[in-house]
Amino acid sequence: MEIAELVASKVLDVPDFPKPGIVFKDLMPLFADGPAFAAAIDAIIAVQGVDSFDVVAGIEARGFVVAAAIAYATGRGVVPIRKAGKLPRDTVSASYALEYGEATLEVHADAFMAGERVLLVDDVLATGGTAAATLGLIEQAGGRVSGFSVVLELSFLDGRSRLAPRPVHALLTV
Ligand code: PRP
Repeated sequence: MEIAELVASKVLDVPDFPKPGIVFKDLMPLFADGPAFAAAIDAIIAVQGVDSFDVVAGIEARGFVVAAAIAYATGRGVVPIRKAGKLPRDTVSASYALEYGEATLEVHADAFMAGERVLLVDDVLATGGTAAATLGLIEQAGGRVSGFSVVLELSFLDGRSRLAPRPVHALLTV
C-alpha cells in the first residue's frame, strides 16, 4: 500500500471538534498502529534524507510523537517546541493565529547550536500559522531549518502558500 493511502486509512474525521463547524483530523489510529506508524516515520526520513539534519524539532503536542520517533530512528536528538509557560529556562517565543483560537509557542533560547540543521515536523498542516511561527522561532534561536514534514496537509486551508517558498513535505494531502 502506498504511504498516502496507508495514512488515509488511519485518519479519522471528527465533526464539530473542538468547536462546531471544525472537522478535526484525528491521527491517533495511525500512532496506535505499530507497522503503520513505523512506515510513516520511515517515509519522512526517506524523503528528507537521513544526512540532511542534525536534530529534530516537534511542535506540541502531537508533533512530539513524530519528532521523537524520527530522532530515535536516526540517532538524533529532539527539541520540543512548547506552548507558553511550559519551559523552565530562557525562551524565545512567537504568537500566532490557529485554525481555531490563538496560541504562543516557545523554545529554549539555547536549544540549537549556531547553524545547526533542524528538521521540523508536526502531525497536521492546516492554516500554516503554527509552522510559520515555529520556523521563525527556530531561526531566532540560532537553528537553520533543513526541512519541514507533516503527516497530513489540509490543502484547502492553504498553509503551504503561507510558508512559500519554503518546501513543505506531507505524507498525505487532502
Ligand atoms: C494542531 C496541529 C498543528 C496545528 C496546525 O495543533 O497539531 O500543530 O494545529 O494548525 P495551523 O496550521 O492552522 O497552525 P493544536 O494547536 O491543536 O495542538 P495539540 O497538538 O496540542 O492538540
